[in-house]
Amino acid sequence: MKHHAIATILDKCPTPSEILVKGWVRTFRGNRFIALNDGSTLRNLQCVLDFENTESSLLKRVTTGAAISVIGTLVESQGAGQSVEVQVNQLEILGDSDADLYPIQPKKHSFEFLRENAHLRVRTNTFGAVMRLRSALAFSVHRYFNENGFFNLHSPIITGSDAEGAGELFRVSQLDPNSPPRDEHGKVDFSKDFFGKETHLTVSGQLEAETYAMALGKVYTFGPTFRAENSNTARHLAEFWMIEPEVAFMDLAGNMDLAEDFLKFVIKDMLENHSEDLAFLEDRLIQEDKSKPERDRNGMTLTDKLKFVVENNFTRLSYTEAIDILKNSKPNKKKIFKYPIDEWGADLQSEHERYLVEKHFETPVILFDYPAKIKAFYMRLNDDQKTVRAMDILFPGIGEMVGGSQREERLDVLESKITAMGIPHQDLDWYLDLRRFGTAVHSGFGLGFERLVMFVTGMSNIRDVIPFPRTPGNADF
Ligand code: 4AD
Ligand code: MG
Repeated sequence: MKHHAIATILDKCPTPSEILVKGWVRTFRGNRFIALNDGSTLRNLQCVLDFENTESSLLKRVTTGAAISVIGTLVESQGAGQSVEVQVNQLEILGDSDADLYPIQPKKHSFEFLRENAHLRVRTNTFGAVMRLRSALAFSVHRYFNENGFFNLHSPIITGSDAEGAGELFRVSQLDPNSPPRDEHGKVDFSKDFFGKETHLTVSGQLEAETYAMALGKVYTFGPTFRAENSNTARHLAEFWMIEPEVAFMDLAGNMDLAEDFLKFVIKDMLENHSEDLAFLEDRLIQEDKSKPERDRNGMTLTDKLKFVVENNFTRLSYTEAIDILKNSKPNKKKIFKYPIDEWGADLQSEHERYLVEKHFETPVILFDYPAKIKAFYMRLNDDQKTVRAMDILFPGIGEMVGGSQREERLDVLESKITAMGIPHQDLDWYLDLRRFGTAVHSGFGLGFERLVMFVTGMSNIRDVIPFPRTPGNADF
């Protein structure tokens, strides 16, 4: 007999019919009702035992967390709460679970506790819903680019170029840390290392994606990236997944259009095709809100927030305009900002970004034309000689969701910027080749996948939207 997923049974199997189902026991009530979950859906399948004809030794083994197999008849349910249920004919315990030791009890656990049990937390309703949505979003990302003529590129994870300057790098080395080979100056001799040079984990696939865009036209990468920055915030991970499209012959305006269209597509897809998990998470947030003081409540439900993004234009404004707004804002004048804004050129902190998005505009915001001094070397210099064609997309509750730019395509300008930043030219010779042979306007952006998952699921800590979070001091599992 073929076994079916609970999602299939609940949505497609006729009543009455004989079915085989396998899953994990969520609860067992009155020696009679098993709530069975197999992860295919948020919904449990109610399995009804004829306990008078079941061995008591078997009944005792039906415990929360146990893996079981059930053969029975799917019928219309007698009770409220579910439309169908299974009358169990045959019950088999596949794997016992000691109820006293199993960490995931049928009650509310704190997210902190569940993080320590990240190998089991996906068996809860909340994490099941989050991780199913994460999977759906990843699929949607690939679908968007595939349907829009992009090629997927697997950029390298181990990199020999550390020029991006996006953050601190994790070293990849095979040298013996206790007695590494040394050169005549006493410095560690990386020419003796595995790759014959210093290597690191990548912070971004952008530079490699540029090379492919300048041949295949429209490409994107979607892979893990690594940053050893010591920021212990609810929005930073040391290992996160980044989506990076790169497009030849596209300028900054086109880049903004692409990012906005892409974000709307994937969010709309979740609203239209994954409403069950979204509804559960929305309800969770409503309950959580009730325990908060009035002024800290959300006001908007999760689906309202998602619909709002899909249905409204993102506000686009220059960095210079944003600075004017921030300078004259109440929190700046009343010195509520931790980092006061007093002059043009200041780097924006997340408190400023969130003020613009959540208080001033109340829409997602695209900021562009940032001061060259606070942005990466590869961004195209504007004619004013002091700003670059950069863009950041800021989202409510998240802050920076996307960072991107039009790239500097002029060889001489790029060379002088590389010199000014003290980067050895030979390290970037291959990158400069793109400007030597058939250079053209091109642009792209990077979107932190976990920040997108946070926004869609309404989860407030980035550690709760990736299966096994890596943060300073934490690399368990
Ligand atoms: O703004 P970033 O540093 O941009 C780049 O790396 C460019 N090379 C992208 C490009 O143009 N192709 O990072 C892009 C995005 C950020 O906007 C943010 O969403 C996310 O990556 N991000 C992080 N997410 C989680 N944890 C971290 N430590 C992150 N750092 C950046
Ligand atoms: Mg950025």
